[in-house]
Amino acid sequence: MNNRRPFIAGNWKMYKTCAEAVETAKTLTGLVSDVKNVDVMIAPPFTALSQVHEAIKESSVMLGAQNIFWEKEGAYTGEISPGMIASAGCRYVIIGHSERRQFFGETDLSVNKKIRAAINNSLAPVFCVGETEKERDGKDTFNILDKQLKMGLEGFSPGDLERMILAYEPVWAIGTGKTATSAQAQEVHRFLRNLIENLFGKKIAGSVRILYGGSVKPENIGELMSMPDIDGALVGGASLNAEKFAEIIKYK
Ligand code: 13P
Repeated sequence: MNNRRPFIAGNWKMYKTCAEAVETAKTLTGLVSDVKNVDVMIAPPFTALSQVHEAIKESSVMLGAQNIFWEKEGAYTGEISPGMIASAGCRYVIIGHSERRQFFGETDLSVNKKIRAAINNSLAPVFCVGETEKERDGKDTFNILDKQLKMGLEGFSPGDLERMILAYEPVWAIGTGKTATSAQAQEVHRFLRNLIENLFGKKIAGSVRILYGGSVKPENIGELMSMPDIDGALVGGASLNAEKFAEIIKYK
């Protein structure tokens, strides 16, 4: 047994208007008001952050953003700074999601800068790593994860990473209905925890929460959470529906 508190996060991606986001968030807080032993976070689109914060601030549900730029301010049209999302009520920020790597040219280097910017602004990064189907088929999974993790966290001290959350999201399992088996996910989570231990020591490796993401739903969360190195989930599609997401949060 470990004493890592389960962490279940909803990544709403590019879904929901302000009104829809507020409604889902309010329904969710009502449904999970009795949940005591799980940390819950939702990451709505930027446009809804402030209003969702107002809607959930009296509850235990926490707020996160889906991305940041690393500069404090400046002539960077279309970008959002760490301080801006913090001022909208965020405590977390998802960084390096595979959709950002795939569609918006994020690299291990930009991910590294964003993690640094998050930590410097007292935001907890939810740092995403994961291999594509081609990489898994080519038996390259562990090399890819090794590179993503080492480059993403290059230059950090163990103290920097105290609040970091790691998320393993195999790209082939995102939005496809194909979940990694709990054994496949556990194998990777164990690998990632060992890597953290080698790089940053036993203490951080023992306390860092590693989430699984990719087609998580009420039907498979229990099995995933029974694995010793799976500490939570980063949920996409199923988190858009408050009832379904609450079922996932109440997996026990
Ligand atoms: P799905 O749960 O829709 O597969 O998405 C996972 C994800 O990308 C969460 O960040």
